[in-house]
Order: sequence, then C-alpha cells, then structure tokens
Amino acid sequence: MNKQLRKAVIAGNWKMNKTPSQTTALVEEMKPLVKDAGCDVVICVPYVDLQAALAATKGSNIKVGAENCHWEKSGAYTGEISTEMLTELGVEYVVIGHSERRTYFGETDVTVQKRVRAALDAGLTVILCVGETLEQREQGITFEVVGLQTKVALGGVSKEELSRVIIAYEPVWAIGTGRTATAEQANEVNHYIRTVIAGLYDSAAADAFVVQYGGSMNAKNAAELLAQPDVDGGLIGGASLKAADFAEIVKAASK
Ligand code: PGA
Repeated sequence: MNKQLRKAVIAGNWKMNKTPSQTTALVEEMKPLVKDAGCDVVICVPYVDLQAALAATKGSNIKVGAENCHWEKSGAYTGEISTEMLTELGVEYVVIGHSERRTYFGETDVTVQKRVRAALDAGLTVILCVGETLEQREQGITFEVVGLQTKVALGGVSKEELSRVIIAYEPVWAIGTGRTATAEQANEVNHYIRTVIAGLYDSAAADAFVVQYGGSMNAKNAAELLAQPDVDGGLIGGASLKAADFAEIVKAASK
C-alpha cells in the first residue's frame, strides 16, 4: 500500500458465523489487540449480531458493517433489510456484491449497482466486492470481468461519493479455499481496478481510492500482500473470526 496516498482498511467479513453473545465475546477479545491500529478497522457481521457488535465496539476504534442491504427503502421484500434499518442502529459500512451473494443468491451486476446506490444515499460506506472465477482467470478474461463488475456497480456514483466506496478484489477461487492469490497477482488486478477508476473519474480520485484484497488472507501472508503498492488493505473471512489472527493482519497493515 502507498501510505502517502491512502490509509489501509482491514475489514472482517464474518459471513454466517457467530451468535450475538459470541459476537460480544469476540469483539471484547479483539478490542485491546487492535486499539493502536494505524489503519481503519471494520467488522462486517450478520444482521442479528449488529446491535451486539455496536454495543461492544462503542468508544473503540472498531467500526461496524453489515454484509448486505436491499435497495428499496421499505416494502414487501420478505427477509430483506433496508439501509435505514442499518443506519438507525449506527452501522457505517456495508459489504455489497460478495461472490457468495452472486453465486448462491442470484446477485447480478445490476442488483449490485442498485444496492450501492441505496447504500450511498443512506450515508453508508460501501465495500464493493469484485473478482473472477477460476474458469475466467484461465480464459484470460480477469481484467474484463473485474472491469465490467466495477463499471456497472459504480454507474451513477459521483466523484464526491467515491470517497465512501472501497473495492475489495476477491478472486473467487481464493475465497475460503486456502489458495491465496500471489502478492503479484493481487497487485496486478488491484492496479488494474485503479486504472478503471482513473478512467471513470480522474487520476487524483484513483490515487485516493482504497482497493483491498480478499481471499484467504491470513496472519501469515498478510504482510507480503499488504507490502504491494496497490493493495490497500484486506477483506478477511476465516481469519477474522480469530481475534489474534485478525489483530496480526491489522498490525501488518499498520506498519
Ligand atoms: P476468506 O474469505 O478470507 O475466508 O477466504 C474472504 C471473503 O470472502 O471476504
């Protein structure tokens, strides 16, 4: 990461793990370990854990995010959660377009764009996930896929609003598989995303823009990934569920 231009963001993505009481316990364990972080620290947790996470993080440097949100303000959308429901609680971040949502729950670039729009309108900061499948990488279309996902999701997002958008590049083949992209592979795509941002906005916007890497980032490989100039942080799944491991990644991003 380039510390002159950007501040790193380390975000945990808890996925469908931890009950409210387990959330309180894990946050209490994390707080003292990350209190001196030189990067932004976020935990994105299941909806029902948000209140416990907000209560436990109060007064600390840990920010809280949701793992999704709906684009409509209210209405007949059984099982969905609106942005206002999140902001009223005090939630500040939201993950949008995670590959698990795209793969298992029919999320498309178009629904991702709608969710991004709604989240920004509500004042939330978006962690937008993009990434290619293994098949797409082998076909040599990684840049095309990631570029298209980025462009569609950011359709209608103003330069001003861009300061509340983070992109997490997460190669689908690296998520939860233990198979991390090499530091060079991560940096190559993160850099490409920055050139897409420069094309859509301008080079100053691209320089200030945070692009995380996600996909089996852990306490062991974080330092090498984060040493890359275009890797400005991480979206961490499995390793964010262990306080010591998460803290180690935060430490690596703080250097
Ligand atoms: P992982 O998940 O760190 O467990 O690979 C990352 C993510 O899906 O955000």
